[in-house]
Parts: sequence; C-alpha cells; structure tokens
Amino acid sequence: TTPPAVVTVTGAAGNIGYAALFRIAAGAMLGHHQPVRLRLLELPGSLPAAVGTAMELDDGAFELLTSVDIFDDARAAFDGADHALLIGARPRGKGMERADLLAANAAIFAEQGAVLNDVAADDLRVIVVGNPANTNAAIASAHAPDIPSDRFTALTRLDHNRAIAQLSHHTACPVREISRVSVWGNHSASQYPDIFHARVGDRSGAEIAEDRAWLVDDFIPTVARRGTAIIDTRGASSAASAANAAIDHVHDWVFGTPEGDWTSAALPSPGVYGVPPGLVCSFPVRAVDGRWEIVEGLDINDFSRARIDTSVAELADEIAAVGDLLPA
Ligand code: NAI
Repeated sequence: TTPPAVVTVTGAAGNIGYAALFRIAAGAMLGHHQPVRLRLLELPGSLPAAVGTAMELDDGAFELLTSVDIFDDARAAFDGADHALLIGARPRGKGMERADLLAANAAIFAEQGAVLNDVAADDLRVIVVGNPANTNAAIASAHAPDIPSDRFTALTRLDHNRAIAQLSHHTACPVREISRVSVWGNHSASQYPDIFHARVGDRSGAEIAEDRAWLVDDFIPTVARRGTAIIDTRGASSAASAANAAIDHVHDWVFGTPEGDWTSAALPSPGVYGVPPGLVCSFPVRAVDGRWEIVEGLDINDFSRARIDTSVAELADEIAAVGDLLPA
C-alpha cells in the first residue's frame, strides 16, 4: 500500500482552507490512490473552528484520509510535510498601510520558511496562497537555505483560470479547447494575462488580441480585478475558486501539465525574461517529472514587455519594502 502523503494546511479554518480540505481528502489534489495525512495550522483563537472542520472531515468518511491533526505551533504542524499549503496570512486591518501589511506577513513567512527548513520532508513542495503571495513565497524561501528555491511557489493559477474563462466567454470556445494562456508578474492588479501565445480552438490568441480595445479595456482589467468584483458581488472574497486553483496547481506539479499545454505559476526567477533573480514571479510553466520548468523562448512583443515590466517593478518594490527581513 502507498504510504500517506503529509499535507500541512495553514489558515485551515479560513474560507479557502474550508473549501480546500474536503477536496484534498477526496483525492482531487494528489490522486485517488494516494492516502493523505492532514495537519492543520491555525492561530490559537481559530482552533475551535479548525476542530469543527476536522469533525466534518471525519463525517466525510473519506477512504484516503488517514488522519487529521490540529496545531497552533508551526514546528509541530510542518513536521514531515511533503506539501505545505500556506494559506493563512495577516489580512489588511483598518488603517493599515501597505508597507505594514508587507512587514507583518514577511515576519510570518520568514518564520514559516525557517521552520520548514528544519522539519519538513526532503520532497517538500510549498504553495503560498496568503497575500502578498509572491513576496511571502520569496521571504519563506530566503529563510529556507537547505530547500531548493524552486520548491517555493505562489498561486497565480486562479488568475490563469480566470483568464481562460474570460477568453472562453468572449470567443464562445469551450475551455477544453483553450491552451497556452500565460499570466506574468505579481498576483495583484498589475498582473499581465497574456493571450498572444494561446490557442483558442482553431484560432490563435494573437488573432483574438488584434481587437486591442477588448484586450486593453475589457479582458486584462476583468481578469486582474476579478477578485475585487467577486468581493463586491458575493460579499466575500474568492474562496472556492482559490481553493480549486491551489488544488490544480499542486495536482499539475505532481502529475504534470497536459501534453502541448502549459499553465501559470509564480516561481523564483532564475533571471529569465528580464525578471531579476530573487523575485517570485508568475511565468508560463510546464511541470515535468515533478518539477516546474519555465516555458522559455517565447517571443515577447512590445505590448507584453511593457506590462510584464510594470508588474515586475511592483514585485521589486515589495521585496525592497521588506528587505530588512531578508537574510544577508
Ligand atoms: P480567511 O481570513 O477566511 O482565513 C485565513 C485564516 O488564516 C484564518 O482562519 C486565520 O486565523 C488564519 N491565519 C492567519 N495567520 C495565520 C498564521 N500565521 N498561521 C496560521 N494560520 C493563520 O481568509 P481566506 O479567504 O481563506 O484567504 C486566505 C489568504 O489567501 C488571504 O491572504 C487572501 O488574500 C489570499 N488569497 C489569495 C489568492 C491567490 O490567488 N493567491 C486568492 C484569494 C485569496
């Protein structure tokens, strides 16, 4: 029998955690033959909610779910983790400046990176969901010197999936016939969803992008501001779609991206496409043999270059703002 995979989920009692845990237990993330041990990390005040969630997980009678353990201590929660879904983060409070938010989260992710370095399994894979996700991932990786930096990723799959959905609506092409969409940059309003290399049924994305009014005034802002539109409409932030995207991300990382296609994920830049090393930036990526590979050699036109540069500049600003939390 297959030994269970250890999956640690932080912020487990939050909205995204609640939406993710049941699907992980059902096999959507690691496959329908892979038993899972869940380890939930929460803040002390949210432990009762985590216990309640664990009771409901019990009540799912999931065949693949070997155990559920709950912690308010990171060192215990990450012990032996094969997968870490870092969802818990400090939300922006009233009157909190962006710099304060960055600093508060940098402190959390510096600590979690250092603990992962000490206690996680050798095959650890990390996905940061908690915002600012890219910079949180960069900070965690910087504090985990013994873990290869490409094991630290941040979620931009939700942006990628949103881009596919918008493209599908616009063209009336089914989602399954859309491939090679790319999201570049930061998981923020500055992100750049790129369709110039996409395939949309038997059309090219570049052809669809010739409608610049639609591209500039509709597609790009709709994708980039979708999170705000969800909050305004639903009255709560994206949760099930974010959980779904995190599960897609880990699933593809483990099982590979489909032949002929790629996806988007934020990874530490190796210095490609003009993105400085040290930034965790969204790129078009393929997963091969359990590792992400950036899709190289794409021709970046001036339209795309300007937008990628803007988002990368924002990432550089974020890192500069938390520079004193980076190890020397
Ligand atoms: P939520 O507020 O419902 O849940 C967050 C949970 O994290 C809370 O239960 C809280 O107690 C816990 N938490 C906070 N700090 C923690 C820490 N240091 N250790 C362990 N647990 C901690 O928030 P929700 O809706 O689940 O969102 C979680 C994060 O995901 C937010 O930062 C949000 O901005 C981000 N997000 C990212 C997306 C992406 O595409 N990258 C999409 C949607 C949300």
